[in-house]
Amino acid sequence: MELKGKHIVLGVTGGIAAYKAAELVRLLIKQGATVQVAMTESATHFVTPVTFQALSGKTVFTDQWDARITNNMAHIDLSREADALLIAPASADFLAKVAQGLADDLLSTLVLARDCPLLVAPAMNRQMWDNPATQRNAATLRTDGIKILGPGCGDQACGETGLGRMIEPEEIVAELIAHFQPKLLTGKRMLITAGPTFEAIDPVRGITNLSTGKMGYAIARAAREAGAAVTLVSGPVALPCPQGVTRISVSSALQMCEAVHNHVGNNDTFVAVAAVADYRPIRTSAQKIKKDGSAPQAIELVLNPDILAEVAALPQPPLCVGFAAESENLHEYAEKKRRAKKIPLIVGNLIQQGFGGDTNTLILFDDDGQHPLPPAPKIELARQLVARIATLLEKR
Ligand code: CTP
Repeated sequence: MELKGKHIVLGVTGGIAAYKAAELVRLLIKQGATVQVAMTESATHFVTPVTFQALSGKTVFTDQWDARITNNMAHIDLSREADALLIAPASADFLAKVAQGLADDLLSTLVLARDCPLLVAPAMNRQMWDNPATQRNAATLRTDGIKILGPGCGDQACGETGLGRMIEPEEIVAELIAHFQPKLLTGKRMLITAGPTFEAIDPVRGITNLSTGKMGYAIARAAREAGAAVTLVSGPVALPCPQGVTRISVSSALQMCEAVHNHVGNNDTFVAVAAVADYRPIRTSAQKIKKDGSAPQAIELVLNPDILAEVAALPQPPLCVGFAAESENLHEYAEKKRRAKKIPLIVGNLIQQGFGGDTNTLILFDDDGQHPLPPAPKIELARQLVARIATLLEKR
């Protein structure tokens, strides 16, 4: 329910992606928003107002002269209570209108008369998007403070492939949720490690740690929502890259270490969430090891570099944040790790609470003492951690 209490006015313009706006309404409502739909006349040729009415539970408006609005002020009434006005899909024609400030139908009038942020999700053929006129209009919208979501790249209804399709409804909802988060890290850069590492024994076997990567990915998302430029160095996980985050995929601890050293230079903060394998096999067999009936081979191990400790020991380290996942003595072990690695903040959690799931319970340990964060979804905890990081960055 990340949009609880938010009132969204959704404008639907004419384009085949209008059918996806129906799913968008459903997802917005699932997140707790109330949704008022307004459509252009051409949008009604793709999907009927009845569809949106059924999904939103509210009368859908298409016409400026709708007699159901008694004072004939639909353009004012509909957007007054809105926390955001979202146009999805936004056709090339509609973007042009908004760029020019035209108001010749209900939706464009609503846009011009609005008193709330405007977000648009363009959807059009790739050549229409590439057209200098559309690009000029998009630049004007950006200058006017309008947030452009996408467009995405991929197959288009016309059979072509390229940039221009509307980003998916789930992505639009994530962008809207991000829009409402406080921008605590604007202009900051954050580097994050997440997931496990995999230390190969042979082409099909290896040593790894149990880690889904969910906490690290949630922190990447929360930092980006707060306005930071985020680079995520990720071990093998089954998670999609959070929107707007740059992901570097690695497998072993050595690869993770190299990627971190290559990128850490221009970051203000380094958050090490990865469950790095402490050891790796001294040798990796190029061929699959066969069982030949004799005694099993011993696997000789060597210590992996401690990525976090190395970064913390740089001459001008970023603000370093570590994680300590423990099965017992959380306070003692977490503080010990914080001191050993010489880092200002460590986040402790008991693996019995939250390991692998979508919720967690954390305790932050820093110079000011302990700050418990009660059980909550990982994204909520990640936002609280980001707020703490923002405070520490300010103090630096
Ligand atoms: N870490 C790292 N590089 C490593 C090992 C750990 O960057 N080679 C980071 C983790 O991302 C985490 C913190 O260090 O932020 C965990 O500290 P550590 O003491 O290494 O944890 P464990 O490996 O769990 O230690 P132990 O097995 O002793 O409990």
